[in-house]
Amino acid sequence: MIERKLAEKFRKLYTENSVRLSDYEKQLFTTRDPFDWVQLMSERSYVMREIYAENEELMSELWDNCSEEITPEEAELLYDLAIGFFFDGHHDFAVLTGFCERILPVFEDMGEPEFLVAIYHVLANEYAAFYRTVSDKKGMDVAMYYFRKVIEQSDNISKISTPEIREFIYEDYFNLISYLGNFYYKDQSCSMESIAVFEKLRNLWNSDFVQQNDAENENVKRFVQSADDAFLAKNMHYDLFSKEERERYIKLIEDMSNRAMAEGGEVEGSPNYRICITYKYLTGQVTPEEILSTIIKSINEIIPVPDYKGDDTEALQLIMRHFKYACTAIMVIRTMDAPDVIKEEWADKFLPKSMDILGKVPYQFFTGTMLPVCAEWYHAAEPILTGELNKVQFLMHMIVRRQPFTYIHSRLVANIASLIGQEVLDTHPEAFVGVRGTTSVEEVQKNRAYLLSFITISGLVHDIGKCYIPSVVNRQNRSLTNTEYATIRKHSEIGYREAQDNAALKPYSDVIIGHHKHYDGLHGYPLGYDNNESTIKIIIDIISIADSIEAGTDTLTRSYTQGKDFAKLLKELKQDAGTRYNPMIVEVIENNPDLIEKLSDLTGQGRYDICYKAMQDILSIDADKA
Ligand SMILES: [Fe+2]
Ligand SMILES: [Fe+2]
Repeated sequence: MIERKLAEKFRKLYTENSVRLSDYEKQLFTTRDPFDWVQLMSERSYVMREIYAENEELMSELWDNCSEEITPEEAELLYDLAIGFFFDGHHDFAVLTGFCERILPVFEDMGEPEFLVAIYHVLANEYAAFYRTVSDKKGMDVAMYYFRKVIEQSDNISKISTPEIREFIYEDYFNLISYLGNFYYKDQSCSMESIAVFEKLRNLWNSDFVQQNDAENENVKRFVQSADDAFLAKNMHYDLFSKEERERYIKLIEDMSNRAMAEGGEVEGSPNYRICITYKYLTGQVTPEEILSTIIKSINEIIPVPDYKGDDTEALQLIMRHFKYACTAIMVIRTMDAPDVIKEEWADKFLPKSMDILGKVPYQFFTGTMLPVCAEWYHAAEPILTGELNKVQFLMHMIVRRQPFTYIHSRLVANIASLIGQEVLDTHPEAFVGVRGTTSVEEVQKNRAYLLSFITISGLVHDIGKCYIPSVVNRQNRSLTNTEYATIRKHSEIGYREAQDNAALKPYSDVIIGHHKHYDGLHGYPLGYDNNESTIKIIIDIISIADSIEAGTDTLTRSYTQGKDFAKLLKELKQDAGTRYNPMIVEVIENNPDLIEKLSDLTGQGRYDICYKAMQDILSIDADKA
């Protein structure tokens, strides 16, 4: 049986540990002195190991004490813990869903709307945060189920006495509407459901209880406004609507536009203006050219650029306004009937400015909010971006820069791979015949520089899929669960999918999908991928070895391993030569004392240099503005 004392001990220690870790992160992003920075990194890595052990011990103590059949007293203790963590911002997927799923049956028996809304809300949001970026349909289905459960409780809203819990209902109306009809759920029934859900929200809003109790609550107003925006964005899929749906949809947008008009909707560049002009566009009162001209004018001339020196909330609102205006322009361009050249001309008129604004958002600025916005933005803009370089730069800027540890790892892998690649190219040029269209040893030698740069870039982009892994997974302060490992392992397939749509990344597809597959093709992942079929197998083999060298000798960023030195790691490479690793490459390293020395340096002292430089890279844009 869980006692209150144990629950309190858990909460206190877990919270202290989280704060300790986030303090390190804060310092890492403000320290400019390389020496202090390296010191901090090593300290953090040590503290993380300590904290992991402590948190895990706590978790198992808690579950060991928990009764087989959970009692109402235990359920209440665990409820307080879970909701407390949630409100404190400790979004630990496994801990929160673990608690909530265990206590849910007890509360469903009791049928108290207040508890139910809170538990459904936590479950819905934790599932969505975990599964949306990896586009995991099964996980998202669970989130959607719980969002709908929250909405069901709106009939009981007057029985919920805590205003913060009532806010969850409005927030989840917004969430449900925005997930319905986005890229997971694009079918007909979803557009129907989002119309019904939006109508239900309007009725709720107009009810006496809400008008008397919640209509003046700023948070509630914000969620209802966001729900408006999300519903307005449904016009992206307007062509999927049936005739009846279109009529109901337009009616709702007309109401929205009337409300917006009453609140400054005629002021160009204001949030409400966008609603009114979109309504006019949808009903044929303005032409595509007219709406584009005015939206683009708002982006380029009217909406202020956030300076990040004053109020953060205000800056966030400005970014979001730019984001929404840009999305409207993208929607019009994508749906307008015009030749591609004309569409490109329109895109060129606002994309540089929009990209600049989103690309310059400082790293630590609302990381949790900005990462999904950037990813969503990338998906929206990608089809109309011209020039492949544009796409890669954009991707690197928007997404990679928000994953500092993946970025550092990738730079190290690129350096290690290029050292090894040079030697392999010199000693076994025949291994590269067939790579990128080369047909003979002479051609390989002639293209040595190109092949080397190909190896380096392969190192930089091999983990691109990691950028789509929920950031919560990388920020846990305990060992990862099986589900979390499984999610991380998806990075090679997710990266591959991204690379397929991106001409600049496409040549590296096989490295992206195959770098965790063993040399002999028998083990590793993904199961369905046959690395032996690849024309760039040798490059995959080099990156796979470089990846293992980096991960195995890491002393700074990973908390779950205590980094080995290179000599020790070389032994492991030799052990697995022929199965996991390409034996020829292992032999090249083994027989080259000069290369061994370089690799020892790079993975030892040199690691600090590269780490620091990578970090400055991430921070440089912020520094420009400071
Ligand atoms: Fe990887
Ligand atoms: Fe990697």
